[in-house]
Amino acid sequence: MTTMTTKPIRETAVHLSRTYPKAHWYVIASSDEVGRSLLPRTVAGEHLVLFRTEAGEAVAMADRCSHRRYPLSAGELIGDEIQCGYHGLRFDSCGTCTWAPGQDRIPSRADVTVRPLVEKAPWVFVWMGDPGQPDHSAIPDVPWFGDERWATVNGMEPLDAPYGLLIDNLLDLSHETFLHAGYIGTPEVAETPIETNVDDYEEVIYVSRHMESVECPPFYRESTGLETPIDRWQDIEYHPPGFYLLHVRVAPAGVAPDGDDEQAAHVKVLYAITPADDDATLDFWAVARDFAIDDPEVDEFIHRMNRDVVLQDVDCLNLIHERSRTELDDTEVSFKIDTGGLAGRRMLRDQTARELH
Ligand code: FES
Ligand SMILES: [Fe+2]
Repeated sequence: MTTMTTKPIRETAVHLSRTYPKAHWYVIASSDEVGRSLLPRTVAGEHLVLFRTEAGEAVAMADRCSHRRYPLSAGELIGDEIQCGYHGLRFDSCGTCTWAPGQDRIPSRADVTVRPLVEKAPWVFVWMGDPGQPDHSAIPDVPWFGDERWATVNGMEPLDAPYGLLIDNLLDLSHETFLHAGYIGTPEVAETPIETNVDDYEEVIYVSRHMESVECPPFYRESTGLETPIDRWQDIEYHPPGFYLLHVRVAPAGVAPDGDDEQAAHVKVLYAITPADDDATLDFWAVARDFAIDDPEVDEFIHRMNRDVVLQDVDCLNLIHERSRTELDDTEVSFKIDTGGLAGRRMLRDQTARELH
């Protein structure tokens, strides 16, 4: 009888070009999505599978069995191990292959990649650079989460469009007047000029719009009780590629901030923008507020309003992307309102190019 032995071979796909950088922390899931069932999720072109160990720790590993590439998310979670649904290979929470059919000695090449995760509830961040060298200093700072002085609601909507379209959208809020009328849009948003500052060294883009004595939109009227006229400030910080923060201050008109600014309401609108691949995006959002913090009705109102606003953006961007697939003409005209968005596009190109060349 002839015995034939074969060495396991792991194939590696090579991406020659992509539109996003990888060596960053991206939000991969909301904390409450990660549990004792297998959650498939694609981030920066990699299929990953998430679960929580019996001790409660979140794990993300390659959603690709090293044997014949069957998605591990289609298998079964047994204790802290995933059992592949095709021929039963088992992988522990470190990605080590612990069992293969008919074989005592399992080569380490059968192991699968496990990616570093950091959980800052309600978000779970994944490091998509070299898994052995996560840069913990680069995790976005989200001090409002878990702070008893702030109440937070959050959600996620998938987008069938490149993440760059969402960056354009978030850096130019003049669209609130038209796309989000009846929610957060009022005429003054589009009428008030912006100030844009680009910090190329730290790679941060700042866009500010301060509106004085303007209409209070329903989003803030219903949640804060403030009446028109108000002073309404929007101060954006965008940290490419995936973290966006809008500092909002709304106050009775003419009330200047001093000390703890008690007459004003403050809101932090956070977006974690995660490229799934070149054509799809995970749009994680959170809204933190420093008023009505123990009021579940305000939680529910802000969650519903912000989700509706996010879905308006999603519909708009899906439509643009769908059209762009079939148009030969890709010319666009940019205006002053696009200064931040154009700087964002440039930084994303630079960050991606640095990794590819
Ligand atoms: S493909 Fe997973 S065990 Fe064969
Ligand atoms: Fe929007």
